[in-house]
Amino acid sequence: MAAKPVYTLEDCKKHVSDKDCWLVVHGKVYDVTAFLEEHPGGYDVILTSSGKDATQDFEEIGHSNSAREMLNKYYLGEFAGGDSAPVTAKAASGSSSGSGFSFGLLLPLLLIIAAIVFQFYLKQK
Ligand code: HEM
Repeated sequence: MAAKPVYTLEDCKKHVSDKDCWLVVHGKVYDVTAFLEEHPGGYDVILTSSGKDATQDFEEIGHSNSAREMLNKYYLGEFAGGDSAPVTAKAASGSSSGSGFSFGLLLPLLLIIAAIVFQFYLKQK
């Protein structure tokens, strides 16, 4: 038997639009793009739950058994697991500047520069 494909959270985060939407429920990854318009609860709620582990969202609604059976139709592969934090607006829109610079580094850097300038200032006196 062929091995089932395994998808990571990072893979899932790339499919969070109404043209291409993946959902993770109970350790399985589903491609629910074709189901978005059909979903009785509306397509927006599914989109909001995409790109993360949506198990909790799915269960909180108390979906019927027929809703659970529907999942099989959209099965894509297994979920590799990991952080189930929601996709941030930044990650979803891809609008980050792309630079890896962290502002956490800026403060210590400024302090070092200030110390050097201050030493210079003291020597001048
Ligand atoms: C692929 C996954 C999903 C399938 C197959 C599915 C299927 C369904 C079905 C068949 C219904 C009609 C009621 C029922 O039979 O239980 C429903 C209702 C609903 N679903 Fe989903 N659903 C999915 C994912 C989600 C997710 C992730 C959310 C996010 C919160 C959600 C929220 C809702 C809501 C709010 C309703 C309306 C409940 C109501 O009218 O009382 N569903 N869904």
